[in-house]
Amino acid sequence: MEENRKLQDGFGRTIDYLRISVTDRCNLRCTYCMPEEGVGFIPHEEILRYEEIIRLSEIFVGMGIRKIRVTGGEPLVRKNILFLTKELSALPLDELVITTNGVLLEQYAEGLKKSGIRRVNVSLDSMNEKTFRSVTRRDRLADVMRGIEAARQAGLGLKINVVAMRGINDAEVTDFVRFALEKKTGLRFIEVMPQYYDEEIVRKRFLGSEEILAKIAAEYEVVPKDDVSEGSVERLYSIGDGGFRFGVISAISDPFCKNCNRVRMMANGVVKTCLFGPEGPNLKRMLLRGAERGEIERVIQRVVMEKPKKHTLDTNAGNLIMNRVGG
Ligand code: GTP
Ligand code: 5AD
Ligand code: SF4
Repeated sequence: MEENRKLQDGFGRTIDYLRISVTDRCNLRCTYCMPEEGVGFIPHEEILRYEEIIRLSEIFVGMGIRKIRVTGGEPLVRKNILFLTKELSALPLDELVITTNGVLLEQYAEGLKKSGIRRVNVSLDSMNEKTFRSVTRRDRLADVMRGIEAARQAGLGLKINVVAMRGINDAEVTDFVRFALEKKTGLRFIEVMPQYYDEEIVRKRFLGSEEILAKIAAEYEVVPKDDVSEGSVERLYSIGDGGFRFGVISAISDPFCKNCNRVRMMANGVVKTCLFGPEGPNLKRMLLRGAERGEIERVIQRVVMEKPKKHTLDTNAGNLIMNRVGG
């Protein structure tokens, strides 16, 4: 038996959470993520094959990764995704989870559950058809709502991710709290972040945590919680002393980098240790040239050692291709 190994970065943070983006393609076009047209997708031959993802995941897990999240683009648009989730679920992990936009969730919920996924995070920024369309440029709200219901029926844990934006969905903040309370789902509000194609979005649409909390506090008793789980980038609150909790990810106003436990692998095998950091080594190329496990481990170790202390939005925002990195 291999002893339990630990992956640590240069600041002593334990890195045990791997986010794998399985595709940069998506069936939505969220305005804070991608332009409507002219998206430069990664060419098919550069995308990691499932066998490669599994091989690399095994290596990461052997090095100390305890949690894997499958992301995109939209992970459910990749063909035969349940094959991958099933294979990944055979790894010795504490958690295998997925983040989806929910459009295809109705047809996948059962299969995901059966394949070993226990909970899903669903991105949903509006429950109003017109607003949903203005954010995602597509008319798929009804599909997402059915997807959420199907996930509940399938017994999957659920968390709704809401990117909060001024003048777009700010009037819906408490609607989301009500919805999550009623449906007994998790809920998180996320401050909008800049990315390569629209760095200005933050100036135009930013709605900070303070304001989000004030809106909720106008209708509910909001109690801050300080028992944030390890590695979490969110701050937690409860409504009254009840069991319901929601989170706020203050990526801009109050980043949580000192607690960050993440490493990312993009659909082409490139490693990224920080959302806003530079691109690291390409592990697919290493596999293709026949690199051995030990060499890949050393490369991963080295890039994790260089994980930035915190993100610097002012200089690096323009580097972030959100649909490639997967949040
Ligand atoms: P849980 O496992 O449920 O806690 O989810 P998660 O937050 O790890 O994953 P999810 O895919 O739901 O991501 C939610 C949001 O967090 C996305 O908007 C991401 O862009 C944002 N996010 C992801 N990683 C980071 C990070 O390293 N730092 C910050 N500040 N935000 C991040
Ligand atoms: N700012 C904040 N959150 C974003 N996401 C995608 N792009 C951005 C952005 N520019 C979110 C999605 C999803 C998560 C994985 O990342 O809405 O919930
Ligand atoms: Fe697709 Fe997610 Fe980007 Fe929206 S944010 S376009 S759902 S990848």
